[in-house]
Amino acid sequence: MTATLDRPVDEDELQAQFDATIAAEHRIEPRDWMPEGYRKTLIRQIAQHAHSEIIGMQPEGDWLLAAPSLRRKAILLAKVQDEAGHGMYLYSAAETLGADRADLTDKLIEGKQKYSSIFNYRTLSYADVGVIGWFVDGAAICNQVPLCRSSYGPYARAMIRICKEESFHQRQGYELLMTMMRGTPEQREMVQDAVDRWWWPSLMMFGPPDDDSPNSAQSMAWGIKRHSNDELRQRYVDMSVPQAEVLGVTLPDPDLSYDPETGHYRFGQIDWDEFKRVVGGDGPANKERIARRRAARDDNAWVTEAAMAYAAKHAARTEAA
Ligand code: 3HC
Repeated sequence: MTATLDRPVDEDELQAQFDATIAAEHRIEPRDWMPEGYRKTLIRQIAQHAHSEIIGMQPEGDWLLAAPSLRRKAILLAKVQDEAGHGMYLYSAAETLGADRADLTDKLIEGKQKYSSIFNYRTLSYADVGVIGWFVDGAAICNQVPLCRSSYGPYARAMIRICKEESFHQRQGYELLMTMMRGTPEQREMVQDAVDRWWWPSLMMFGPPDDDSPNSAQSMAWGIKRHSNDELRQRYVDMSVPQAEVLGVTLPDPDLSYDPETGHYRFGQIDWDEFKRVVGGDGPANKERIARRRAARDDNAWVTEAAMAYAAKHAARTEAA
């Protein structure tokens, strides 16, 4: 907990107290003084995270009407609704830093802020719903559990609830695939095809290699990130390979092999050119993802206006009472 600005303190003392709080692994809270760079990178990362949750509703949402049973539809509906909630928690965390969620949404739509590369890929079959749960939510768990210990209080606390729900997301996806793998040959082929299409984009979720990650070093020094991109990617590969074996699918990487010396799985070269194209806005589905987000903002603007007008009237009445 560092000093707040309710007494004259010079910037050096504030910086020293901020540094001591980070060094002690204590939390920085919204009313604490913080370096502008810390605030900016938190808004950048939390906004991207929130955008990812909201855009991530689209690929799975496309299968809500085509889910093969009422049970599968109910599970998928619950998951997609969870993602919306995750977005709301994260936009609220960004707002504690002085950001405005409408402004962040505009920045996303204008291409000035990013969302996770993974949601640039289309869901071509129902098996994709299972593979997204297994791969994408599994990657999210790998990446987000350490964020429960992020130095910024509201972000870390949002992560605790989100991670609990991600565990359900990952398990429901894996169970769906287990069921399909016990089904017909066509269903097994559908699962393998989805695994082939989603494996490498899932590895890209963890970000560029550490030697090409401009934000990591500072984010780790500030305790925002607890592990590097490559560390978490390796942890994810080590977790996924045994799961693939139990499921009976083949991960599309001929270089995948266990290294008894390190205790880790070696894996092949990621196509960083594809990653850069996707992150640069040239992903396969980016245009339609952003068009739908823009339509959702514009078509529902009247709901926001009505809610804001009601809130203003309610506040005025409370004030006058
Ligand atoms: N997709 C899009 N952009 C990416 C990216 C990805 N997978 N990985 C990195 N980038 C961007 C970064 O945002 C940064 O660009 P910017 O400076 O314009 O923001 C640039 O590439 C360089 O990357 P860095 O490694 O330097 O950036 P970070 O230190 O921010 O690391 C990160 C990237 C690991 C994604 C980190 O931001 C992070 O951990 N974010 C929080 C978790 C998150 O956002 N997960 C996204 C998935 S959400 C999800 O899966 C929902 C689930 O319910 C399905």
